[in-house]
Amino acid sequence: MNVVRLITQKRDGGEVAPDDLTALVDAYTAGDVPDYQMAAFLMAAFVRGLGDAEAAALTRAMLHSGRVLDLSDVPGAKVDKHSTGGVGDKVSLVLAPLVAACGVPVPMISGRGLGHTGGTLDKLEAIPGFRTDLSIDEYRDVLGRVGTVMIGQTAEIAPADKKIYALRDVTGTVESIPLIAASILSKKLAEGIDALVLDVKCGRGAFMKDEAQARRLAETLVGVAEREGTPAVALLTRMDVPLGRAVGNGPETAEAVSILRDETPTGGACDDTVEVTVALAGEMLALGGAAPDAHAGREQARAALADGSALATFRALVEAQDGDASVLDHPARLMGEPVATVEADRAGTVADVDALALGYAAVALGAGRARKEDAVDPKAGFVLNKRPGEPVEAGEPLAFVYASDPDRADTDAVRAAFTVSDATPPRPAALVLDRY
Ligand code: URA
Repeated sequence: MNVVRLITQKRDGGEVAPDDLTALVDAYTAGDVPDYQMAAFLMAAFVRGLGDAEAAALTRAMLHSGRVLDLSDVPGAKVDKHSTGGVGDKVSLVLAPLVAACGVPVPMISGRGLGHTGGTLDKLEAIPGFRTDLSIDEYRDVLGRVGTVMIGQTAEIAPADKKIYALRDVTGTVESIPLIAASILSKKLAEGIDALVLDVKCGRGAFMKDEAQARRLAETLVGVAEREGTPAVALLTRMDVPLGRAVGNGPETAEAVSILRDETPTGGACDDTVEVTVALAGEMLALGGAAPDAHAGREQARAALADGSALATFRALVEAQDGDASVLDHPARLMGEPVATVEADRAGTVADVDALALGYAAVALGAGRARKEDAVDPKAGFVLNKRPGEPVEAGEPLAFVYASDPDRADTDAVRAAFTVSDATPPRPAALVLDRY
C-alpha cells in the first residue's frame, strides 16, 4: 500500500477501494502508518466525503481491527440501541431491562460522558458497587442469565476506532457523517448483535444540532449497518430541552429507577423519557421478533413497565454486576440532599430550558469531564422542578442542585438556562421526528 497515493486519491475526490481502506486501517492500528499521514487522509475524507461503499469498507475494517463477539450460544435475536447523546438522556437504563423483560436479549457496550452529554457507564457507576468492567466471559454469562448486560468499551473491541477517534478529536475531523457512522457502527457491530436501533438526536443539546445533518447521519447509519448485514432502524428525536427532569449521573439513574418503578419521579411527570423509551423499545421488539410490528412492540413495552417486569430485570442486572440493589427501593439515595435551590426571579410560564446550557452547567458542577481522565461526581446534577409549559411564581424553585461539593453549585448558570415569560408557549412538537 502506498499511503501517499491513498491520501492524494481522496484529496482529489477519488474513491478509495475497500482493500486499500482495510490496509490503511490495519497499518495505522499496528503503528506502521504515522499519525500525520492518517490525519491527512482523515482531513481529505472530511472535506471530500466518503461514498456508501467507502463508509461501509471503513466500518468493516475498524470493526475487524479487534474482537467481534459471537453470542450465537445465547438464544434469540440480540438487539442493542445506540444514542448519539443528549442532556438528561437516561433512556438506556430503562430500555435495556425493558426490552429484555419482553424477551429480546440486549447486550450493551456503552461509553462515558464526553463534552456536555452524559454517558451510560457513568450513570450505572452511580450505583454503589456496580461493575462495568466485566470480562467477555462474564458479559456472555450475565446476558444469558439476565437477558441484558451493560459494560464499558474494552481494549479488544474496535481498537482502530479508539486510535482514529483520538486523532480526529485533535485534528478537526470529528464532524464528518461517514467518519461518525464508521466509528459508531464499528463498536456496535462488534457486540455480537443481530439488529440495531439508533436514537439520532437533533437540536441544541445534541451532538448534531442541525436537522438536515442529523437526518443524513440517521440515513448513513442505517445504510451502512444494513450493507454490513445488520438490520437497523433509526429514530430521529428532538434534543432541545433536557430529557426528563434529572440531569447528571446519580439524579438520572434515580429518575430511571423511578420510571422502572412506574412512579412519578422527583419533581413530577417524566412523559418525554417514557415516550422516547417506548418508541425505541417498540422498534427493538419488532426487530428482535418478539412483536409483529413496532406498534405492538410499544404496547408490550408499556405493559412491562406497568407490571414491574422491567424493574425485576433491572434488579437482576444490578445484582449480577455486583451493584447495591437496595437503591432500587430508595432511588433518592443516589443523589443525596439538594445543596442549592434555583429560584425564579419572576412569575410567568417556563417558555424554554436550554439543554446545552444545562449540560455545560452539569459539567462545571462535576457531573461531566473537562478532560477524558477526570473523575465524575456521581451525585452531581440537577432536578428540574419546572419544565417548559409549566407556570411558576416568583421565588418558586425552578431546579434543585445536587453535588458532593456545594461550592461548585453555580445557581446563576442554572437560572440562565430557563426562560420565564408571560406568553403561553405553544404545545411542544412531537419528540420523535422521523423514522429511517
Ligand atoms: N460518537 C462516536 O462514537 N464516534 C464519533 O465519531 C462521534 C460520536
